[in-house]
Amino acid sequence: MNSALKDGILDNKVAFITGGTSGINLGIARRFVAAGAKVTVLGRNADKARAARESLGAHVLDVTADVRQPDQLAAALAQARDRFGEIDILVAGAAGNFPSPALAMSPNGFKAVVDIDLLGTFNALRLGYEHLRRPGAHVLAISAPQAQVPSMLQSHVCAAKAGVDMLVKTLALEWGALGVRVNSIWPGAVEGTEGMQRLAPTPESHARIAGAIPLGRFASAEEIAEVALFLSTDSARYVTGAVWAVDGGMSLVGFHALAGS
Ligand code: COA
Repeated sequence: MNSALKDGILDNKVAFITGGTSGINLGIARRFVAAGAKVTVLGRNADKARAARESLGAHVLDVTADVRQPDQLAAALAQARDRFGEIDILVAGAAGNFPSPALAMSPNGFKAVVDIDLLGTFNALRLGYEHLRRPGAHVLAISAPQAQVPSMLQSHVCAAKAGVDMLVKTLALEWGALGVRVNSIWPGAVEGTEGMQRLAPTPESHARIAGAIPLGRFASAEEIAEVALFLSTDSARYVTGAVWAVDGGMSLVGFHALAGS
């Protein structure tokens, strides 16, 4: 992949990535490792976490926790701290999604996604804060265009991700003077992720969605990771409270193509 970011740009940096065992977040972990960072990936499933670590190579730790459970998360953060020291880059990427009209969703279904996406992001940021290198750390939430673009079948995700982005902006205010930047990115449709397999399960729905994206295609996980990397470097040292769309323009046109999936 062509990159404007030089090799070794994260040498001696430490990253902690919730949801880092698959999909977009695993792509971010891979890019950070390639850039020289020591990386902890956190997932709910121990086998998947181990497989992720083995695929990433040296200087990687895998930990297991559910981001909805503060005690589990605190223990995982302590493990990472013992291994690698203070965290320079904290990525809150763990998320859950399933397509469903609100009327087919139970209160518990709505809650499951809000708890993983919004409460889980708060837990990661709040508990992770205690382990951040201050000043200097960067905190990145993986949000989604649904935070701002209403989308059929996504009431739970829209509500949760809107909350995530407001949380990011509020913490950017509160933590700026403490030397911690807090940002959010919106990956759009990304190839090969569990989320998109659920939202675009057939070749027809995949083609319909790709055709509706201004850039005319899905992203690769590497393209999302490149922006996550840039935001986490010193080149972005004056960027905080930002919400960046990395979605090929999808949020400009809405999500009507998803409705028929
Ligand atoms: N339609 C409607 N409701 C659904 C559903 C669907 N497709 N899938 C799950 N639910 C409901 C369940 O019925 C349950 O509600 P109930 O107790 O009233 O029956 C509720 O959601 C919780 O389900 P459960 O499977 O116990 O939750 P979980 O915490 O194990 O899993 C999910 C959370 C539902 C978000 C699950 O999809 C998940 O684990 N996702 C993680 C991976 C993922 O989504 N990746 C993509 C990220 S973008």
